[in-house]
Amino acid sequence: MKGFFNSTLLQPKIPPSHVLGGSGRARIGCNACGLYKSCLTPKMKATGGGKEGILIVGEAPGAEEDKRQTQFCGETGRFLERKLADAGIKMNTDCRKINAVNCRPPRNATPTPLQIDSCRTFLFEEIQSFKPKLILLAGGSAVQSFLGHRIKWKEETFSISKWRGWAIPDQDYQAWVVPVFHPSYVKRNEEGGDYSSTLYLEQDLEMAVRLAGAPFPALNYEIETFDTRQGHTRDYIRGKLLQLIRRADRELFELAFDYETTGLKPQRKGHQIVSIAYCDDRDKATAFLFHPDLMDAWSAVLRHRNILKIASNLKFEDAWSRVILNTAPRGWLWDTMLAAHVLDNRPGITGLKFQTYVRLGKIDYSSHIEPFLSGGRDSGEKDFGFPPI
Ligand code: URA
Repeated sequence: MKGFFNSTLLQPKIPPSHVLGGSGRARIGCNACGLYKSCLTPKMKATGGGKEGILIVGEAPGAEEDKRQTQFCGETGRFLERKLADAGIKMNTDCRKINAVNCRPPRNATPTPLQIDSCRTFLFEEIQSFKPKLILLAGGSAVQSFLGHRIKWKEETFSISKWRGWAIPDQDYQAWVVPVFHPSYVKRNEEGGDYSSTLYLEQDLEMAVRLAGAPFPALNYEIETFDTRQGHTRDYIRGKLLQLIRRADRELFELAFDYETTGLKPQRKGHQIVSIAYCDDRDKATAFLFHPDLMDAWSAVLRHRNILKIASNLKFEDAWSRVILNTAPRGWLWDTMLAAHVLDNRPGITGLKFQTYVRLGKIDYSSHIEPFLSGGRDSGEKDFGFPPI
């Protein structure tokens, strides 16, 4: 169990200066993709005045860029320049520009994951030296370059349609991150008489410009974590839970909670609730390793009607409470997953990890405990050092 509640792992990570190879391959270096052999300007450096602290990340240089050794100087670049000017930004003086892939791919082919992984180090070196306050990710390749090595969610895709529209306060880089449709896509649509992506691009750029002038919302919160395998820690947690109940006897209040479990289905033999995290205060959360001795106190919290309960996908917490703890929770108030779907019904965006990143800018809050949660495929065979309930 060592490491389950290792508090240093709960702090935001400062990323290393060289971040290479995000797709499970061994370390990939800059030359691995071979594109440098066929272009006029290999490994094009970032250019642009950057006066307003904005970094534009494009896809890859085209023919014009390859010749003139600077990004976004061809037709697509001029199109983007006009859109930025409409939003009050001078592309070449206010912004720095770089691409996900910095050697021109033959025939302007869309970059492959290998090419993006090989080139990622240039983007992160630029971010480290320039320290942008706003990062505009133009198109799916830019999103993949910026996030591909940092996201471990199995189902993740970097399709721009699910990423555009968010203004992400990225806590690792202390910068607003705004993914937008790639200007060549928007320009092509416009030429075909379809202006829907134009409206989105304009709207997203306006939002980005507004944010660039606003203070960055650093995320300040405290998580208290408790390993309850020792009796005195269990007593302490029981005391905290009883405090919640005493408070609920006096007043209504909201409590968000989340279970980490050994699998998806509580009915399967041997499955357990591993830990419980709850939050009854905006800036502070408590997480504890669940222990059968705490069942009564936690069940009383679940049953108390004055404790208004919030979860992400409440059916999950509800089912595990009923099956494992034999307790039907009362006072359900809100399901953040359902609310996310009501607010925006694009596919693939309602998961807690996606929402936590796009809304709070926190990219990884749980990978350090994953080895403790899923041994085999939904096997339920983990040993947590105390008897199953
Ligand atoms: N020019 C660039 O430099 N990058 C793009 O993504 C498109 C045009």
